Amino acid sequence: MHFQWYPGHMTKAKRQMQEDIKLIDLVIELVDARIPLSSRNPDIDELGKQKARLILMNKADLANEEQTRKWSEYFRNKGFYVVKLDARSKAGMKSINDVIMEACKEKIERDRRRGIKNRPVRAMVVGIPNVGKSTFINTYAGKACAKTGNKPGVTKGKQWIRLNKNVELLDTPGILWPKFEDQSVGLRLALIGSIKDEILNIDELSLELIRIIQKNYPGILKARYEVEEEREAVEVLEQIARNRNCVQKGNELDYSKAALLVIDEFRSGRLGKITLEFPEG
Ligand code: G4P
Repeated sequence: MHFQWYPGHMTKAKRQMQEDIKLIDLVIELVDARIPLSSRNPDIDELGKQKARLILMNKADLANEEQTRKWSEYFRNKGFYVVKLDARSKAGMKSINDVIMEACKEKIERDRRRGIKNRPVRAMVVGIPNVGKSTFINTYAGKACAKTGNKPGVTKGKQWIRLNKNVELLDTPGILWPKFEDQSVGLRLALIGSIKDEILNIDELSLELIRIIQKNYPGILKARYEVEEEREAVEVLEQIARNRNCVQKGNELDYSKAALLVIDEFRSGRLGKITLEFPEG
């Protein structure tokens, strides 16, 4: 799914989020584990500042494990609870219930002191388009869940998914818009496929990807494409075009075809587990 953002969209999404956040105890924010910062919108920190916070490092199956560990540490140091995840798989879901209870322990304790028993924790899922919000809700909630109807004091039409006796989830995720102002952020979002390919220069994008891989993941390009990877990026792309038989009419090398190949293989994980940005220090 691709999104085109206009100021009107953003204002509406933000206003909706402000309303929804009033109803919940916990913000479950999905980020893309390959670009944990560039796939965030820091506005959520202001919007959710009174709430418990859980970051799900999603698509961790595509990211470098060591970097995912470092990023998890980075977010934990900032006060977030963190779980790494492949939202398509049931496997990671078990631990999430426990983490949610831990993240909301102050609220649960407050309720207990006031004599309120069995009030479920309420949560909502937020994140930029394509980060895996719907996939997560489907996998996490599964088929067994019952949707609960409108409740007194809750905006009409809001649907809550009762996950278990302790947790309710707002059934529609909150959409955050990515921040494109910084060029390198835009580049990373483009690489993971968050920006329409049609408006991108795929050749240029693939050269940037090749440079990132050359610098941070030596050996990968050589192993996959049998290229001399210490060459200039454009020469590496040329070798990939040659070795993968990317040719156009007249037997000329087709750089764009090779560029698309590299980007596709990165996005699908065939190039390996690659994180594109790194926590400082
Ligand atoms: P959204 O609601 O946040 O917009 O995202 P959505 O759940 O629609 O997920 C977007 C794409 O990402 C889906 O692929 C989904 O299968 C994939 N996805 C979600 N979570 C994970 C994960 O943890 N790991 C991997 N590898 N993929 C994940 P899709 O429907 O095939 O779309 P696309 O691939 O054509 O973009």
